Amino acid sequence: MKTKFYATTPIYYVNGAPHIGHAYTSIAADVMARFKRLDGYDVRFLTGTDEHGQKVEKAAHDAGVDPQTFTDQISADFKAMADAMGVSYDDYIRTTEPRHKASTAELWKRIEASGDIYLGHYEGWYAVRDEAFHDESELTRRPDGSFVAPSGAPVEWVREPSYFFRLSAFQDRLLKLYNNQPEFIAPSSRRSEVISFVKGGLRDLSISRTTFNWGIPVPDAPGHVMYVWLDALNNYLTACGFPDETGPLWRYWPADVHFVGKDIIRFHAVYWPAFLMAAGLSLPRRVSSNGWWLMDGEKMSKSLGNVVEPRKLAEIFGLDQLRYFLLREKPFGADGSLSHAAIISRINVDLANDLGNLSQRLLSLIARNRGGVLPARGPWTEDDTGLLTAADALPDLVRANMDRQTFHEGLEEIWKVIRAANGYIDRQAPWALNKTDKTRMGAVLRVLADTLRVVATLLQPVMPGSMARMLDQLGVPPDARDFAALTTPLADEITLPPPQGVFPRYVEPAA
Ligand code: ME8
Ligand code: MG
Repeated sequence: MKTKFYATTPIYYVNGAPHIGHAYTSIAADVMARFKRLDGYDVRFLTGTDEHGQKVEKAAHDAGVDPQTFTDQISADFKAMADAMGVSYDDYIRTTEPRHKASTAELWKRIEASGDIYLGHYEGWYAVRDEAFHDESELTRRPDGSFVAPSGAPVEWVREPSYFFRLSAFQDRLLKLYNNQPEFIAPSSRRSEVISFVKGGLRDLSISRTTFNWGIPVPDAPGHVMYVWLDALNNYLTACGFPDETGPLWRYWPADVHFVGKDIIRFHAVYWPAFLMAAGLSLPRRVSSNGWWLMDGEKMSKSLGNVVEPRKLAEIFGLDQLRYFLLREKPFGADGSLSHAAIISRINVDLANDLGNLSQRLLSLIARNRGGVLPARGPWTEDDTGLLTAADALPDLVRANMDRQTFHEGLEEIWKVIRAANGYIDRQAPWALNKTDKTRMGAVLRVLADTLRVVATLLQPVMPGSMARMLDQLGVPPDARDFAALTTPLADEITLPPPQGVFPRYVEPAA
């Protein structure tokens, strides 16, 4: 039986069109899901949309549309974006679906049964843009006397009856979790932040609202709808069939990794495990958070309106090129700047020059000098075994980086081998061997083909379309493209299809 692996993206607010920030978290999660599938896991990969709450209700109102019609449209657009980005989700959840409403009502009842919910009165600051309550100590006063949240979102004073979750009672249990499961929060800078936040003491959390009604009703409490974050976080359980713990999907729980942005780490690493502890459910293994793509030094966001359309970028540069850029350009957890110049440089240097030229040189030599027939392996020199050993070591190196979400380092390991292969081909000069020693030329070309096969196999999660084409050209059968297949050499003397360039240089269109 395959080991299960459950990965999730955040579910995105449907208050505006998707942008490259959303595409980024989803693509990173997709790379992880595809990698685990190729590595022999039974993967469940979830994405979707977060459709309730004041922020979405307000956006619908501003658009002059009723909230359900509004969320139907924008959710469909997020789904189309995920499809266009090659996000290979197994389930697309919407929090307005009946399955989710039923599941969330049940989660509420379980938490309530544990004694961790009580009725009270909330009075304090609320940021609709973050859908978050804020302590006065967290706010900044602006020159005009108004206050803003740490994210820059405006806050308003609210006063209403509310149900509370006894979060204050979970401090010790949460600290124990972070301590016993050090890999629970990534990267470690975020882990330290969360630990000091929790050590600072936790206040009980307001988990229902009475001043609007676009939400899931609190069971047996007319007038109260659930706080949108309790509703939203529960999507991860709904998609496992909760509360049906005998159903076919329940075995995927707990999540192996929740991919999130660093803005929502507190919700996932503090509130979510506390809700689950209260409900007596098992906890996710890891919450891994990404940093921002910045535009002119500022976080790109729907609320700020300074966004880049991912589908447009994929159209200009190619989808695989965009996916590669996003994962290679900056460490996952760090912030980074997005610009056309930076994308073009990655395309022309890493893809066209390093990888594209290598495969083009190799495949055209096989076509020209060997009639397109893949040479047999060996005999090997020291230079040959040096390169082959580096290639054989790659799957483990890349896997370790995937498991830590250090995607850029995993890619750098692959590029070290690509650069080594380029050095090798220059040293061995197989085009010259064609005149002096055809047998040796065959051995050299085969070393390169075997190396490129490992590279292309491991790059499939990042660039699925281009690597499928590269593997086609290397004669790797479609059923021999998972990582386990790498231990079986390709058959000798197979005939390869005519070579075709996989990564053209990007040339700026004439103005
Ligand atoms: O927070 N750079 O939804 P949201 C990188 N509904 N990633 C970015 C980004 C940027 N500039 N901007 C957004 C919500 N993101 C809640 C989540 S989950 C139970 C509920 C990504 O529409 C990043 O992953 O505001 C961030 O956490 C997410 O989009 C927020 O999307
Ligand atoms: Mg947001």
